[in-house]
Amino acid sequence: MPPKESSSASVVTPQSFARKATIFAVVFALLTVLYRFLDSHLDWFYILNPTDLHDLSLRAIGAHGNDTTAVVAYITKELSDKFPGGYINLDQEWIFNNAGGAMGGMYIIHASITEYLIIFGTAVGTEGHTGRHTADDYFHILKGTQLAYTPGSYEPEVYPQGSVHHLHRGTVKQYKMDSACFALEYARGWIPPMLGFGFADGLTSTLDIPTLWRTTWVTGREMVLNLARGKL
Ligand SMILES: *[C@@H]1O[C@H](CO)[C@@H](O)[C@H](O)[C@H]1NC(C)=O
Repeated sequence: MPPKESSSASVVTPQSFARKATIFAVVFALLTVLYRFLDSHLDWFYILNPTDLHDLSLRAIGAHGNDTTAVVAYITKELSDKFPGGYINLDQEWIFNNAGGAMGGMYIIHASITEYLIIFGTAVGTEGHTGRHTADDYFHILKGTQLAYTPGSYEPEVYPQGSVHHLHRGTVKQYKMDSACFALEYARGWIPPMLGFGFADGLTSTLDIPTLWRTTWVTGREMVLNLARGKL
């Protein structure tokens, strides 16, 4: 009988090491295959899409112009009619967000493992690093203008009201909102790995614990409730 793992007399024999290494390699290979499979079929899990969200943003701006309160209400009302059952959070729980050196406020409309939809912006302007993400990010400008810069270019990318800034998965830019700017931000891909970026500035700079807690609570609650609905 081999000794129990937990006993103080435990001996790591070459055989038990080889067995553990084999089990680890097999589990790792299976997880890799599962990840590759899910990653290439992520579209199975999406309920939202950038084309419809852009169309919705344009109609909301067309109906309410710079009355951004009404623009946001128009968007969330239509989405909640289209996706009844709690996928859309109508409670505007505004929370500060510090990430990549930029600061703004956000209202989480939807958060699940593969998608999130938020209103993000600031009434005073901000600037920072976009973060390098495991999801595609579509920034639908509802009010104001966003600027973006990629090293190698000498001119800014300019995203005015009604336009969409698509930040491709895995790419980064510097971005800036010179003054008041709000956007409907839609991310699709793997959302949980993005959360590290969303929390890093809070944990290492602002130390704003109530904000960090509220962000964790609202994000976690939405992800868990969506999982419970079968929405990955
Ligand atoms: C919103 O305000 C800006 C700046 O005053 C203006 O350029 C823009 O046309 C306005 N948009 C709408 C839809 O009224």
